[in-house]
Amino acid sequence: MSRRRTPLAALAVACLTLVVPATAHADTYSPGSAGLGDPYFPHAGNGGYDVEHYDLKLRFNPKTDVLSGTATITATATKNLSRFNLDFSGLTVRKVEVNGKKATFRRKGQELTVTPAAGPADEAKFTVSVQYDGKPKPVNDPELGVTGWIHTKDGATALGEPDGARTWFPVNDNPKDKATFAYTVSVPVGLTVLANGEPRNTGIVRVRNGWSSVKWEMREPMAPYLAMVAIGKFKVTQGTAAGVPNITAYDPVLAKTSKYLHRTTAKATEWGVKHFGPYPFSSTGGIADKVDVGYALETQGRPVYDGDVSDDLLIVHELAHQWFGNSVGPQTWRDIWLNEGFATYAEWLYEETHNGPTAKQTFAKLYKSKGEFWQLKTGNPGRNGMFDWEAVYQRGAMTLQALRQKIGDETFFELLPAWTEKHRHGTANTRDFIDLAEEMSGLDLDPLFNAWLYKAAKPKL
Ligand code: TRP
Ligand code: ZN
Repeated sequence: MSRRRTPLAALAVACLTLVVPATAHADTYSPGSAGLGDPYFPHAGNGGYDVEHYDLKLRFNPKTDVLSGTATITATATKNLSRFNLDFSGLTVRKVEVNGKKATFRRKGQELTVTPAAGPADEAKFTVSVQYDGKPKPVNDPELGVTGWIHTKDGATALGEPDGARTWFPVNDNPKDKATFAYTVSVPVGLTVLANGEPRNTGIVRVRNGWSSVKWEMREPMAPYLAMVAIGKFKVTQGTAAGVPNITAYDPVLAKTSKYLHRTTAKATEWGVKHFGPYPFSSTGGIADKVDVGYALETQGRPVYDGDVSDDLLIVHELAHQWFGNSVGPQTWRDIWLNEGFATYAEWLYEETHNGPTAKQTFAKLYKSKGEFWQLKTGNPGRNGMFDWEAVYQRGAMTLQALRQKIGDETFFELLPAWTEKHRHGTANTRDFIDLAEEMSGLDLDPLFNAWLYKAAKPKL
């Protein structure tokens, strides 16, 4: 059966569908959409399928900056697909196959459109493999900074929040579509490769023509923006924390902070378990590298720190994201306060439980802030305001303190682990959080959340 239709014929089919949906549907193949309707990143992700797994085989030469890769994506169609999109920027695509058969492709902006010889039927599992190479270029957003494949002095490190993943692999780059990841990374002998999850090596390191390869695996579902690979001259420390491996690494030029990072990562992971519930991933850790982006990122199971780490609270913040943001992911980028407000509140709580100021005191100090502090909406800060330190991080944490004062310590400290348990390895939105808080407290909390999240004005106490 021909799946290529003129627009008129497609229209006829569409009309027919309305009249006799059951029979017409089986024959109707249509394109997947080029975005998933994220309010801040409309092109992020694609419609018509759901990814289960990314298998990324990468080869990187730091001398030439050339990355070659084969990405094999396992997905399930959510409708009959005549074609579908992936997010992919830069890099040259050499070959695309769907279910092992050659497919044609087109590129436009960040969209890679794949037209298979035979489109996957609704609910069918399929694989798409993309062969590519080139010199990756990071995304440099004037408001949100640098993300993507970042070339460093001794290698490269990939960071993806919010939309940098597409610079190094073809991806359904939307926080809603979590998947497991496997990486096989080949680099010149002498360099170390780290990534999310755990190393999966046979014990025999094969060296061919001066290259060796390493496997890492993230076995828990992960949003693509949290995918991370770090290549360079790292010193690696291995231990355990909260019953899982703790793998940290640092660039030797940052040696001063090394032991500190490992110890504090263990301490913060264990502290998190006490307040937020079971640690969600199979390992913890951290990487200190000179990435020069000006921020740390909570890459799943193993955050990346930019340069010297000498701040307990930064480590606490990134590890708190493992529960808030990573395991319980935001459904859209508008919900970013569910990541940043919670991770910032974790810092306040850590201070409170380590002889510092109480969260109540921190709140009281910030409540005196004037002017700009209150001018963005924490629950909808806008694309360019999504990492606003005051509106999203601090006012987000203040929202949680206001909630704690309203519902009381007992309910509040049951709510945090209930939240991480309810949405473990999933995604959630602000309404879900309000609903759970109302259910557990028996109070109407809409007025409180409306004032704190959705008004560009200082809430009354
Ligand atoms: N999510 C990171 C954190 O808070 C911060 C971050 C990522 C960021 N990208 C950014 C901050 C861009 C400012 C600009 O741990
Ligand atoms: Zn954060």
